[in-house]
Amino acid sequence: MKKVLITGAGGQLGLAVDRVLRDAKDNTIYRTGQVGDAKENILPFDITDEAAVNSLMNDLKPDIIINCAAFTAVDLCESEEDRAYRVNALGPKFLAMAAKRIGAKLVHISTDYVYDGQAGKPYIEGDAANPISAYGRTKLAGDEFVEKYCKKFFILRTAWVYGEGKNFVRTMLRLADSGKQLRVVADQLGTPTSALEIARVIAFLIQTESYGLYHATCEGSTSWYAFAVEIMKEAGKEVHIEAISTSEYPTPAKRPMYSVLDNKALRERHGYLMKDWKDAFKEYWKDYQEEK
Ligand SMILES: NC(=O)c1ccc[n+]([C@@H]2O[C@H](COP(=O)([O-])OP(=O)(O)OC[C@H]3O[C@@H](n4cnc5c(N)ncnc54)[C@H](OP(=O)(O)O)[C@@H]3O)[C@@H](O)[C@H]2O)c1
Repeated sequence: MKKVLITGAGGQLGLAVDRVLRDAKDNTIYRTGQVGDAKENILPFDITDEAAVNSLMNDLKPDIIINCAAFTAVDLCESEEDRAYRVNALGPKFLAMAAKRIGAKLVHISTDYVYDGQAGKPYIEGDAANPISAYGRTKLAGDEFVEKYCKKFFILRTAWVYGEGKNFVRTMLRLADSGKQLRVVADQLGTPTSALEIARVIAFLIQTESYGLYHATCEGSTSWYAFAVEIMKEAGKEVHIEAISTSEYPTPAKRPMYSVLDNKALRERHGYLMKDWKDAFKEYWKDYQEEK
């Protein structure tokens, strides 16, 4: 029996990780969240509070720490970069130092937004990061701290995540139901990835000692526009979606134009293939219907 501590357990990925690891039944899971929720059995735990990190790690001595906590509001990070740095960089640093001290494995989640989007071909793990947003900068700083301060780490860079919570899928459905005209960016390319698929990769990797940096997105690629079309198709909604360019949809944070990731390390080191993005979305949709 392994003791597994999940941070950010109330977020999209935190919920999916709990679901997958609970199914495996060979772990004792400790769920923690920034605020805590007694009803949901989530302990209050702020990863930016170094004393709290040390105290919980010393008391609990988990075998595995899965850091799903992050400040993920990409546009807000531009005006609140200090806060983003505390959550996305200092929090992982404190977790990494504690993990090293107690000998725990640390899983840390990163993002396609550490890349600048200029590559024109899928990024592999060795490619240079060059973030173009505050979110990307703070997440990259977090990755660097994890690599520097502990040895038994898995960093998973993923993208365009949807699960239970606020995400693109739910926003599109809400807008479609409100009868508003849908205008969606068609010139940014990436890969929608279900939180459940990432959680499965985590469940696989934590059984190994194969530490390092991994790309972990679903297979294939698409644009936000084509993803929105797929969502409406699956939902059986006949709505017109206007394809627009990034310049027609200005946002505080710049996004990479092309952030397709090649899961080279997962494939070549483990023969592990994640689902194609459309298949993963179909699976999510089925779950979503049952949940309603
Ligand atoms: N969402 C995406 O499209 C995407 C894409 C690429 C990579 N990622 C990465 O994937 C990981 C999981 O993302 P997600 O989509 O599951 O995010 P999410 O739904 O926003 O969940 C993040 C969780 O972190 C918690 N949190 C924030 N500050 C905290 C703190 N100081 N201490 C403890 N918990 C804190 C949040 O709690 P509150 O709700 O109380 O603030 C929330 O429960 C993150 O590392 C993210 O950077 C996400």
